[in-house]
Amino acid sequence: IREQAEKELSAAESIQELENIRVKYLGKKGELTSVLRGMGALSAEERPIIGQIANEVRQVLENRIEELKKKLLDKERELKLAQEVIDVTIPGNRKVLGKKHPLTVVLDEIKEVFIGMGYEIAEGPEVEMDYYNFEALNIPKNHPARDVQDTFYINENILLRTQTSPVQIRVMENKKPPIKIICPGRVYRSDAVDATHSPIFHQVEGLVVDKGVTMGDLIGTLKIFAKSLFGEKTDIRLRPHHFPFTEPSAEVDVSCWTCGGKGCRICKNEGWIEILGAGMVHPKVLEVCGIDPEVYSGFAFGLGVERTAMGRFNIDDMRLLYENDIRFLKQF
Ligand code: PHE
Repeated sequence: IREQAEKELSAAESIQELENIRVKYLGKKGELTSVLRGMGALSAEERPIIGQIANEVRQVLENRIEELKKKLLDKERELKLAQEVIDVTIPGNRKVLGKKHPLTVVLDEIKEVFIGMGYEIAEGPEVEMDYYNFEALNIPKNHPARDVQDTFYINENILLRTQTSPVQIRVMENKKPPIKIICPGRVYRSDAVDATHSPIFHQVEGLVVDKGVTMGDLIGTLKIFAKSLFGEKTDIRLRPHHFPFTEPSAEVDVSCWTCGGKGCRICKNEGWIEILGAGMVHPKVLEVCGIDPEVYSGFAFGLGVERTAMGRFNIDDMRLLYENDIRFLKQF
């Protein structure tokens, strides 16, 4: 039994095999166990001799099993460690970093320029009351300006703001001069999508109200803005215009940042690019907000962010700004 068991044990390659051998010889119905059990049938002389031998064999087998078990466990652990070794020289997976959207880049630049001049950032709701978007801005119910700005109405009194100008009113209602704010935000107009139009776009409103604010202040401010954003050589040009909430009003062009005013594809050979509307805050608008136009004056402007971004980055189709194709966005 001993020889046979030791032979089998030496060949055992797993803990499970060891256990099977243990059961076969030392288990309740094991071969050695039955020898010990059968001792009763032996003579009194044989019993101690066979008993001693059987016990010895049991001891030897138990020790051997224990010893082999330890060896196998060690081997198993080594194998596991070897498998789990980390090769620190394997190149890692490079994480792809996102990029700021071109509109965000331009918006950040605009904010930085105005914050540098002491402006605060104001915000207003995109779902706006007719009163703030039109009425208080001197655009009464059947004013033709309401046609120009094709409006998404939610009901008779509530709409999606067509401009950031309603924030002028909200700010002036809540804060007395001196006021110096910009308001970046999304605006909505019921326009069909094409290369230069989108029903959702962005504006940055500017408003300054204080004693003795003049058109000269407006022009100086816009000049600094244009030079900061488009380069020191940039100039601005004001063309007379009409907005119901400013008087006088102007549309403002900047000299083309690509050709420097000579004419190129970007400015459609004009040398100038229109980027904003501006003017002196209409006395009626100040009055509606409880600010005395005899004491205070102010200027306001509204800047088109898409237009600015398209010019800055040489983008010829506005739709590219909203499709978020990663191949496009990666370029800025
Ligand atoms: N709100 C005007 C527009 O959307 C722009 C503007 C703002 C004009 C402020 C004058 C003063 O066209």
